[in-house]
Amino acid sequence: MAINNFWIFSLTFQLLLLLHVSSESSWITDDASRRPSKFLEYAKSPEVFDWMVGIRRKLHENPELGFEEFETSKLIRSELDLMGVKYKYPVAVTGVVGYVGTGEPPFVALRADMDALPMQEDVEWEHKSKVPGKMHACGHDGHVAMLLGAAKILKEHHQDLQGTVVLIFQPAEEVFAGAKKMIEAGALKHVEAIFGIHLTNQVPLGKTASRAGSLLAGSGFFEAVITGKGGHAAIPHHTIDPVIAASSVVLSLQHLVSRETDPLDSKVVTVSKLHGGNAFNVIPDSITIGGTLRAFSGFSQLQERIKEVITKQATVNRCNASVNLKPNGKEPVPPTVNNMNLYKQFKNLVRDLLGEDSFVEVSPIMGGEDFSYFAEAIPGHFSFLGMQDETKSYASPHSSLYTVNEDALPYGAAIHASMAVRYLEDKASKGSDSPKDEL
Ligand SMILES: *[C@@H]1O[C@H](CO)[C@@H](O)[C@H](O)[C@H]1NC(C)=O
Ligand SMILES: [Zn+2]
Ligand SMILES: [Zn+2]
Repeated sequence: MAINNFWIFSLTFQLLLLLHVSSESSWITDDASRRPSKFLEYAKSPEVFDWMVGIRRKLHENPELGFEEFETSKLIRSELDLMGVKYKYPVAVTGVVGYVGTGEPPFVALRADMDALPMQEDVEWEHKSKVPGKMHACGHDGHVAMLLGAAKILKEHHQDLQGTVVLIFQPAEEVFAGAKKMIEAGALKHVEAIFGIHLTNQVPLGKTASRAGSLLAGSGFFEAVITGKGGHAAIPHHTIDPVIAASSVVLSLQHLVSRETDPLDSKVVTVSKLHGGNAFNVIPDSITIGGTLRAFSGFSQLQERIKEVITKQATVNRCNASVNLKPNGKEPVPPTVNNMNLYKQFKNLVRDLLGEDSFVEVSPIMGGEDFSYFAEAIPGHFSFLGMQDETKSYASPHSSLYTVNEDALPYGAAIHASMAVRYLEDKASKGSDSPKDEL
């Protein structure tokens, strides 16, 4: 009897709890699904749209290379000042980290890159690059405008924020892995998730693309000096021949992909440079080799194996080898891996915002992105925002004919802002559970 009573009580209690939770979550869901469209309307309003376009054009006229984004950074800071958004500066030379919301956890980050490319613009238009040999040909001018747009939207709705949105404006995406320097400088302090958006000409305007797991390849370089002891080519036993050692190294490196990699997983190890020796009858002191690696998974393990194969093969052949994984300061970029939960959140959000067919599932892409450093440190999601429309054909990134479809900017701003808001809302509705990284 007592047991029965207990069960009835317990069941009623659980039902009450269930009702309470479900009514609360449906209230949150309704509100959350209305908000993105409001954000998009606001971002498309002439007031915000023209302002974003103005910023993007100003940046386009004055492109700055990695770690030289001083004017870009200044413009960002003056806009944040006007909005009353607090920020940290400098973070990694020119980087800016803004904060909107309660100033309390949870912290969720949105990221834009600021740097241009060392190339000449060939597009003739009113706002063509004014700096010879420098151009925003990857859309980072648009990325900054979109993130400032998001800042404006978020500031406008700051009383709705159930935590803090961290706005990361990072330098040097293209060559020097500015993202890594930003992390080292503490940009991700307290941050538990991060979102990044890249404009693309491969997807129609108003649509987005991404995938769960590996989206972009890890890419890196290596250079090695293999040292022996030179001497007469006809008296080899008085020498330590680095030519033989280097030959063994080159062949052994080929086994990393052919014998140690799942054939269904894509990896590349290429030796593309081999220098040494200058005479028919002289064994040289050393040989230099160099090349590149690409991988979607096990990138750092592949780097380690490359290093190991080179040094150990050299040792077998009585030579010494030194391996440089950052030749000429070229930073390796790990693969960009999207967190499963954030991917699902993103997909749901863009469908709410832009309709069922607004999300395109893409195959992995061999290009690299230093956003990968953020997504390696904490759960992250990187996506592409389409800008292709019927009116004209948009050139691919890093082309001297590259242009940004400015109509995409409000989409970027609204997606950024609503992703952050939804992340914080989800978090608040789930309590203090930390997000599970399913990857
Ligand atoms: C390799 O390095 C060791 C330790 O520095 C040195 O003793 C040896 O002579 C070197 N061998 C060659 C072939 O340079
Ligand atoms: Zn680029
Ligand atoms: Zn880019």
